[in-house]
Amino acid sequence: METIRHITRADLHRINGLLSRAFSQGRADDGYRFTEVPECRLEFLDMYLEDFPEGSYLLEVDGQIRAFGFAHLWGRVGWVGPVAVAPEVQGRGHGREIMNQCLASLREAGARTIGLETMPRSYRNLGFYGKLGFVPGELTVCLASEVFARPVPPQEELRAEAVYFSRLPKEERQSFLEKAREIADAACEGLDYRSLILHTSQYKYGDTAIFRLGERQALAIGHTEPYAVDEERHVLRVVACVFPPPVDRSFVDAVLTSLRDWARREFLGHLSLWVPTRQLEAFRHLLQAGFRVIHSDLRMTLEGYPLVTTPGAWLLDKWE
Ligand SMILES: CC(C)(COP(=O)(O)OP(=O)(O)OC[C@H]1O[C@@H](n2cnc3c(N)ncnc32)[C@H](O)[C@@H]1OP(=O)(O)O)[C@@H](O)C(=O)NCCC(=O)NCCS
Repeated sequence: METIRHITRADLHRINGLLSRAFSQGRADDGYRFTEVPECRLEFLDMYLEDFPEGSYLLEVDGQIRAFGFAHLWGRVGWVGPVAVAPEVQGRGHGREIMNQCLASLREAGARTIGLETMPRSYRNLGFYGKLGFVPGELTVCLASEVFARPVPPQEELRAEAVYFSRLPKEERQSFLEKAREIADAACEGLDYRSLILHTSQYKYGDTAIFRLGERQALAIGHTEPYAVDEERHVLRVVACVFPPPVDRSFVDAVLTSLRDWARREFLGHLSLWVPTRQLEAFRHLLQAGFRVIHSDLRMTLEGYPLVTTPGAWLLDKWE
């Protein structure tokens, strides 16, 4: 018997196996040389599920999980991923069924943006999402730089003053979260990372900083722990970084210096940020600052649910 239901923590172990199998097969089908996609750390999937469990579903047939999809909701901004169907039952409509459930939950919860990121090389995924009403947009690129290869900047070099969420006493956390909401909202009305900030801290996956220099401020949510079981701890992944307008380049550089300090303090050799290429100024600025492109995904949004950002803001985040 076929059932569609919400994903629970108890399912994550089996979902992990299916995720690895489906994505490895997908890479083989797309002609990659290295096809093995390792399993995720269970605590990472657990944190992912916490984002929006009401919108995350699996499909099972006689108790066997055949397909699943995770949805995420950051205020009014929703996205879907990962989504996978067991290779032996692909092409039978299971992917569509799961996606329809995730999308309905996001709509019901009031999402104004609904998006996803997928491998641009996979024509099947483009066809699959295109038929569901998703419109291809620009690429989101992952930009990385080594932090130890660069000389440690002298103390007098411009740094932004940083306040870290996890280091605050309990009574100050509420006002931090409110400030974080205001910063995100200034770049994209309705965007709210509070659940991401809380779960990042609760699962000890990293931390969130609000950076200030004079009147200017920015927000960065960073993951310090690995996602995959076979991965060493090596990178500070800035999964969301927001600069409200107007963006001042010297402030951006001060924040980058402070992010490198954060990575060094955690003994992490790399710093990475995700930059949607429609944020062209940010893309160019980071390339000029010595960052290298190490990965790219295609960003798509559902027709009628676009991402609308405030002109002049830099909104650097990943939907993956
Ligand atoms: C992508 C994936 C989830 C699709 O699931 P699926 O169950 O095989 O897809 P479905 O059978 O539900 O197909 C849905 C629609 O996509 C369409 N589709 C699939 N490939 C297509 C293509 N190349 N061009 C046009 N349409 C295509 C199907 O025709 C179907 O449309 P229809 O319902 O109108 O007939 C599945 O292939 C998968 O798990 N891939 C590996 C993991 C992965 O890449 N996940 C997505 C990462 S972002």
